[in-house]
Amino acid sequence: MKRIILFLLCVMLSLPLCSCGEKSDALRQSGAESKDSTGSAGNSSQNVNSTEDTAKAGVFDMETKTVMLSSGYEMPIMGLGTYSLSDEECYNSVTALLESGGRLIDTAYMYGNEAAVGRAIRDSDVPREEIFVITKIYPGEQYKDPEKAIQDALDKLDIGYIDMMLLHHPGENDVKAYLAMEKFVADGKIHSLGLSNFYIEELEEFLPQIDIMPALVQNEIHPYYQEQEVVPYIQSLGIVVQGWYPFGGRGHTSEMLGDETLNEIAAAHGVTTAQVILRWNLQRGVVVIPGSSDPDHIKENLDIFGFELTDEEMQRISSLDRNEKHDWY
Ligand SMILES: NC(=O)c1ccc[n+]([C@@H]2O[C@H](COP(=O)([O-])OP(=O)(O)OC[C@H]3O[C@@H](n4cnc5c(N)ncnc54)[C@H](OP(=O)(O)O)[C@@H]3O)[C@@H](O)[C@H]2O)c1
Repeated sequence: MKRIILFLLCVMLSLPLCSCGEKSDALRQSGAESKDSTGSAGNSSQNVNSTEDTAKAGVFDMETKTVMLSSGYEMPIMGLGTYSLSDEECYNSVTALLESGGRLIDTAYMYGNEAAVGRAIRDSDVPREEIFVITKIYPGEQYKDPEKAIQDALDKLDIGYIDMMLLHHPGENDVKAYLAMEKFVADGKIHSLGLSNFYIEELEEFLPQIDIMPALVQNEIHPYYQEQEVVPYIQSLGIVVQGWYPFGGRGHTSEMLGDETLNEIAAAHGVTTAQVILRWNLQRGVVVIPGSSDPDHIKENLDIFGFELTDEEMQRISSLDRNEKHDWY
C-alpha cells in the first residue's frame, strides 16, 4: 500500500505542473501538520506528508521553471525584484515582466509600491492564478499590529490573495506577527509564509515558536556573499532559499558585472555576465529576483534556461566568495 501511495505521488509530481497559484494535493500542509507532539516546528519532515515529499519540495524543475514549496504551492524560480522602483517604474517593470513571460514578483510594504504591483497585475491579460506575488511586513508598528499590516497589504495589492508573505526582518514581536500571518493562511487570504534576513541562529530560535514552517527564506546572496553554510542549512529544513541583491545591489553592480572570472564564463557560453550570475544561483537551488526598471534587462534576466554551467565553472564562481555583505541586514 505504501508503495502504491509513493508511486501515485511520483506520477502526480511528474505531471505537467499546474498554475503557480494552484495548490498540489501531494504537498498539503496545515498548521496542525507542521507541529510535532512537543510543539516544535523545527523539523522539516513535519512540514509535508512524508520524507519523500520533503525531498521533492525544494527541487527546481528547469522545464517548468518552478519549484514546489513545502506549503504545496508552486513558485517560479526566476522573477523580478521591485526595491527602489517608484510607482511608475514599478508598474512598467511588472508589466514588462508579465509581457515577457515572467510570473514572480517581489515587493514589500517598505518599498511603497504594492499598489503599483497590484495595478499592473490587474491591468495585464495574465490570469491571476499564474502570477506569484511576494510581499513583506516590517518590524516596528507593523509587527505591533500585524492584522492591520496584513490587511493593508491585501488592500493595497487588491489582487484577491497574497501568494506569499514574509517577515522582512527578525525583530520585536516577530513571532506575534508570524502567528497573525498564519491566521490569514487559515482564511485563504495568504497562501504561503516565509522569512527574510534570518540566518542559522535566528531560525533555530524562531522555528520552535511557530506552527507553519516557512516555505521560503529570502537573504542577501551573490557571488561575493554566497552564504555557503547558511544556504544548505536552510535547504536541509525543506525551505526554499531566495537571494536578494543577485548583482550585488545598486552601487555594486558594475564591479560584479565586470568581474573577470564571470566575464570569461559568460563569453564561453555566449551569454551575459548577469545571466551567468542568475544561472549560478539556480544551479545551487537559489531562486532569483533581480531588480530592474529596464525592459531589455528584464527580458535578458528571464532568459537563463538555454545554457548550463559546468561543475568546474560552478566551482570557479564558488571561489569568488569574499563574505562581503553589501547591506547591514
Ligand atoms: N528582503 C530584503 O531585505 C531585501 C533587501 C534588498 C533587496 N531585496 C529584493 O531583492 C531584489 C533585488 O535586489 P536589488 O534590485 O536591490 O539589486 P540587484 O538585483 O542586485 O541589482 C539591481 C541593479 O542591477 C541592474 N540590472 C538588472 N538586470 C541587469 C542586467 N541584465 N544587466 C545589467 N544590469 C542589470 C539594475 O539596473 P536596471 O534598472 O538598469 O536594469 C539595477 O541597477 C530587490 O528588488 C528586492 O525585491 C530584498
